[in-house]
Amino acid sequence: MFVKTKIVLTIVYVMILAGILASSSGVSRSIFSERLRARFDESASGQEVSERLPPPGPDMHNIQEDFQSTILMVNGALLIVAAILSYGLAGLTLRPIRSAYQRQRRFLGDASHELRTPLAILQTGLESQLRRNKDTKEEKKIKSHLEEVYRMTRLVEDLLQLSYFAERNINIPNKEDVQLVPLLRETSERFIELAIKNDITIDCFINTDAGVTVLGDKQMLSQAIANVLKNAVCHNKSGGSVEIRLSKVRSQAVIEIKDTGTGMNAEDLAHVFDRFYRAEKSRFRGTGGSGLGLSIAYAVICAHCGHIDIQSVPDKGTRVVITLPVSSAS
Ligand SMILES: Nc1ncnc2c1ncn2[C@@H]1O[C@H](COP(=O)(O)OP(=O)(O)OP(=O)(O)O)[C@@H](O)[C@H]1O
Ligand SMILES: [Mg+2]
Repeated sequence: MFVKTKIVLTIVYVMILAGILASSSGVSRSIFSERLRARFDESASGQEVSERLPPPGPDMHNIQEDFQSTILMVNGALLIVAAILSYGLAGLTLRPIRSAYQRQRRFLGDASHELRTPLAILQTGLESQLRRNKDTKEEKKIKSHLEEVYRMTRLVEDLLQLSYFAERNINIPNKEDVQLVPLLRETSERFIELAIKNDITIDCFINTDAGVTVLGDKQMLSQAIANVLKNAVCHNKSGGSVEIRLSKVRSQAVIEIKDTGTGMNAEDLAHVFDRFYRAEKSRFRGTGGSGLGLSIAYAVICAHCGHIDIQSVPDKGTRVVITLPVSSAS
C-alpha cells in the first residue's frame, strides 16, 4: 500500500517540477528568440554589432535549435535527479504515517491476541456450567452468554487474521499446490446444513476436466471462499439458490459464486470490502455478522496475487468472481 502511495507522490512531485521547468523554459526560449532576432535584424541593417552578437557561422535557426536542445538536456537531467530526490522525499513524508499505521496494526494484533485467553477461559467455564445446568431455568441464559462468547471469539479470530496480513505485508509464508476442485467441494459441504436450514440450494458446477491447481495456503483460500459462500447463504432469501462455478481461463482459475439473495445497491457495493462494513439491510435484519468476512477474503485473494470482484443487483442477487493464477502443476 505504501509503495504505491510513494510512487504516486513521486509522480506528483515530478509532474509539478516538469510543469515549472516547461513554463520557465518556454519563457526563456521566447525571450532568447526575441533578443536573437533583434540582434540579427541589427546586423542585417548594417548597424554596429555589439560584442555579444552570436558568432558568425550558424544562422539564427540553428542557434535557436542549439538553445532548445541544451534546455531539453538540462531539463531532462534535472527531472531524473528530481525523480530520485522525490522518491526519497515521498518516503520521508510517508514515514510518520507508516509508523502510526504499523503501531495501530500492532495494537490491533496484540489486543486481539490478549483477548483470546480470557475468552477461551470464559467459554470453558460457560460450557461446563451449561452441562451442570441442563434442563434448569438457567440453561437458556447460559446458552445466550455462550453464543456471545462464540461471536466474540470469531470476531477476535477475524481481527487477528487481518492484522496477520497487515504485519506481514500480505505475504504467504508456506505455499503449496492447492487443488481447487476438492477445496471447493469441501468448503461448500460445510454450508449444506445451514443452507438446508435456510431453505437454500447449493449447486457446484466444475467447468474443467483437468484439476485446477493454485500455489498458496489451503487453509486461507478455504477461509476466503467460505466467507463469500457464507454471505451467499446468509444474505439469501428462503427458497433461493447458490451456484458455484469453477473454470480455467488461460492461466487463471476463475471461481464464481452467484446467489439469488437480497443483493446490494451501488453505495453498499463501494464499501463492501471495508472492515466492519455492513449494509443497512443486513444491520436491520440482524444477520449477526461483524462485517469482516469480505475484508479477509479480499486480503487472502490479494496475497495470492488474485483478484476478487463483486457485482450485485438489489433484490435480485450477488455474483462474486475470484480469479487466481494457476500454478505450473495445473
Ligand atoms: N452475497 C451477498 N448478498 C447480499 N449482501 C451481501 C452479500 N455479501 C456481502 N453482503 C453485504 O456486505 C456486508 C459485508 O459483508 P462481510 O462478509 O464483510 O460481513 P458480514 O457478512 O456482515 O459479517 P462476517 O464478518 O460475519 O462475514 C454484509 O453485511 C452484507 O450487507
Ligand atoms: Mg460475511
